[in-house]
Amino acid sequence: MHKDIEKILVSEEELKEIVKKLAEKIDKDYSKKELIIVGVLKGSALFMADLIRALENDFKIDFVVVSSYANASESSGRVNLIKDVSQSVKGKDVLIVEDIIDSGNTLNFLVNYFYTKNADSVKIVTLFDKPDRRQVEVPVQYVGKIIPDVFIVGYGLDYAENYRTLPYVGILKPEIYS
Ligand code: IMP
Ligand code: MG
Repeated sequence: MHKDIEKILVSEEELKEIVKKLAEKIDKDYSKKELIIVGVLKGSALFMADLIRALENDFKIDFVVVSSYANASESSGRVNLIKDVSQSVKGKDVLIVEDIIDSGNTLNFLVNYFYTKNADSVKIVTLFDKPDRRQVEVPVQYVGKIIPDVFIVGYGLDYAENYRTLPYVGILKPEIYS
């Protein structure tokens, strides 16, 4: 285990199980639809890569980059689009892939954004959900795992750009924040 990690919250094995279950539901729900799966970089990169490989259907993929927390662990509430998708979403079904929903600000912004671009439907799959921290209500159709109000890293999730490459999800030691 990494020296900065206090405890593993979700093991590699559990992550695989979660991804498999989500992929089965998505395949079933979108089997007859033209879906664009949009990953929110960078946090969702590892989850997205595993999720799309687990799908049976051949969907299109794309990516967006939105302004992050910078080096903080709290949301500023303001969200900016830094990199847009590179195909039209007009008349298409969009599924946003997020690593974690916290305040809800990021996903609230993205859902509205794709509707203003005339997407037919916009849904969300998130690996983790911290419902206790929500500031804005966002309907989330697919949730991998609900977690308590703790700051987690690994499997794409970072703290100040570190720990993204860990194959498991862990809770940081408190001294790393102070
Ligand atoms: P929201 O806009 O507050 O819902 O935040 C969503 C984004 O905040 C996620 O895409 C993550 O990048 C980041 N985030 C929220 N909670 C955590 C966490 O526990 N660990 C790492 N990143 C987090
Ligand atoms: Mg993120």
